[in-house]
Amino acid sequence: MSEPTIESILQEKRSFQPPQEFSQKAHIKSLEDYQQLYDQAKANPQKFWADLAQQELHWFQKWDTVMDWQPPFAKWFVGGKINISYNCLDRHLITWRRNKAALIWEGEPGDSRTLTYAQLHREVCQMANVFKQLGVQKGDRVGIYMPMIPEAAIAMLACARIGAAHTVIFGGFSAEALKDRLVDAAAKLVVTADGGWRKEAIVPLKEQVDKSLANNGAPTVENVLVVERTKQGIQMEPGRDHWWHDLQTGASADCPAEPMDAEDMLFILYTSGTTGKPKGVVHTTAGYNLYTHMTLKWAFDIQDTDVYWCTADVGWITGHSYIVYGPLSNGATTLMYEGAPRASNPGCFWDVVEKYGVNIFYTAPTAIRAFIKMGEEHPKARNLSSLRLLGTVGEPINPEAWMWYHRVIGGERCPIVDTWWQTETGGFMITPLPGATPTKPGSATRPFPGIIAEVVDLEGNPVADNQGGYLVVKHPWPGMLRTVYGNPERFRRTYWEHIPPKDGQYLYFAGDGARKDEDGYFWVMGRVDDVINVAGHRLGTMEVESALVSHAAVAEAAVVGKPDEVKGEEVCAFVTLEGSYSASEELKKELKQHVVKEIGAIARPGEIRFTEAMPKTRSGKIMRRLLRNLASGQEIAGDTSTLEDRSVLDKLRGGS
Ligand code: PRX
Repeated sequence: MSEPTIESILQEKRSFQPPQEFSQKAHIKSLEDYQQLYDQAKANPQKFWADLAQQELHWFQKWDTVMDWQPPFAKWFVGGKINISYNCLDRHLITWRRNKAALIWEGEPGDSRTLTYAQLHREVCQMANVFKQLGVQKGDRVGIYMPMIPEAAIAMLACARIGAAHTVIFGGFSAEALKDRLVDAAAKLVVTADGGWRKEAIVPLKEQVDKSLANNGAPTVENVLVVERTKQGIQMEPGRDHWWHDLQTGASADCPAEPMDAEDMLFILYTSGTTGKPKGVVHTTAGYNLYTHMTLKWAFDIQDTDVYWCTADVGWITGHSYIVYGPLSNGATTLMYEGAPRASNPGCFWDVVEKYGVNIFYTAPTAIRAFIKMGEEHPKARNLSSLRLLGTVGEPINPEAWMWYHRVIGGERCPIVDTWWQTETGGFMITPLPGATPTKPGSATRPFPGIIAEVVDLEGNPVADNQGGYLVVKHPWPGMLRTVYGNPERFRRTYWEHIPPKDGQYLYFAGDGARKDEDGYFWVMGRVDDVINVAGHRLGTMEVESALVSHAAVAEAAVVGKPDEVKGEEVCAFVTLEGSYSASEELKKELKQHVVKEIGAIARPGEIRFTEAMPKTRSGKIMRRLLRNLASGQEIAGDTSTLEDRSVLDKLRGGS
């Protein structure tokens, strides 16, 4: 199995038509319908989005201005008043959906729970009232550090209901990483659980919160709300820590949704970039609501009878947009699973599909590659006939994995929707519409209506068909990030200055390389910056380097991605040691553990190589390109004439 290289995908000529039966019942039924929507949106984007906003969402007050674009800062539906929790809950209560399953939860070990729209609404209102009781007000920030349990979604919706912005921190992040995020967001409240289940072990979430808050670590945090999940016994600090079930008893279920300005901040979500410090991506209310709603409706063809399952964690954007907000805004049934496939239970995903009759299944290529390794006897032993659509996200999918997904999971009848997007984009950007777009294995196909994507060179000129270049987006869209929290300059620099405006038009720089083929299909090649993609998780190489050099033994560290069969890439770290330390297997282990402590298990280096020196240019810049070649076992490619000391390369080749 290999990652798509430009050679392999240039040879990929297979194409799959949408199944006729699927198209007939789909929201968007043909390529002509897609083209018409695309053209309309391109000709008049403001009218296109405004019409949808009017038709699809509830507003307390209509907007005055559809889009206000002061490059690179966009505002959508200015003057409008809206609440996303109202759109996700209240408006369904006055329809037959009142008693429809909103959230199906399959927990570990063996727990399950289903909440109807009415029940979910009730719990959200109660939690919102508890937040208020704990002093949270409109405009405050709330940290959510939770396992995959319904209360994670309830906490997000409760924030949205009262106008507090949430910042969800993935439960796999360490206390250090949690602290950094709570401090940056100046969170007032943290919602967590005593623990969460992860592959038969307990993740001690509350303990991590305690560590992050120790010694006044995050001084703005006044209260910690704790959901009882694993019951393993934890310390509760009087005055600061409160059990959710204690406060829920007696909390009123009456909490009207706060009318929010369209551009009020809905959430901050931290993601890795090219510098050491993760950046807080800011999404606002109305545009994000509309964008997640429409993309899910058209790209996943959500129907009222569907059971829809996205396997992401709510700690990532995929969980925000496509477990919580997109599905609930559409009145869909969304499934949340606490478990993860593992050697002891290789068929657990397929058990869930069979148990609930899942119709739409959305996962990452890294998971698909893991399933391939586990063997197709596991899915084959289950009844997967309920599935009608498959989605993928997070990294380029290699055509072999695509074909396996199509054949073994989809029974050759389910369209595969390969969605290219990012934390920053809020929702799908390049994606097939399953009833309309013929698919090609490994291509995310064409832009969603309203999205003008292009592949350009560094000056912003479109490159010829099938030439590699940088993926950019030309016109603002409702779901785009508005800024980097507390750092508008970083927002400008990161996304809008790598490629300068072209003919007065600003180009959003995604950080990905891509090519467009002769049919206008996009083939995303992966990151072109210092970001690596490990099992669909985005990691900044600088972030891992900072973690490594914070260890006393490390003088210098350089981190690159190394190809991995299942994870796509894994972290490979080159390390020079401080004088008094010597290389050993023990030290390697210690350094790996140190990175886990500083960031979390997702950043654990797969490989550490000690070296006497780094390959540097005369101006002192580490030549990562050479390190990437070395890590992947390739010959050193390209020019090495700028190397300061050529003997370093030989030493590196022989390094331990
Ligand atoms: O490199 C692209 C890759 O994931 C990056 C975004 O990561 P993140 O913000 O964590 O969001 C992941 C979930 C949306 C992108 O810059 N990526 C995401 N989807 C795809 C992809 N690469 C190729 N094909 C995709 N479908």
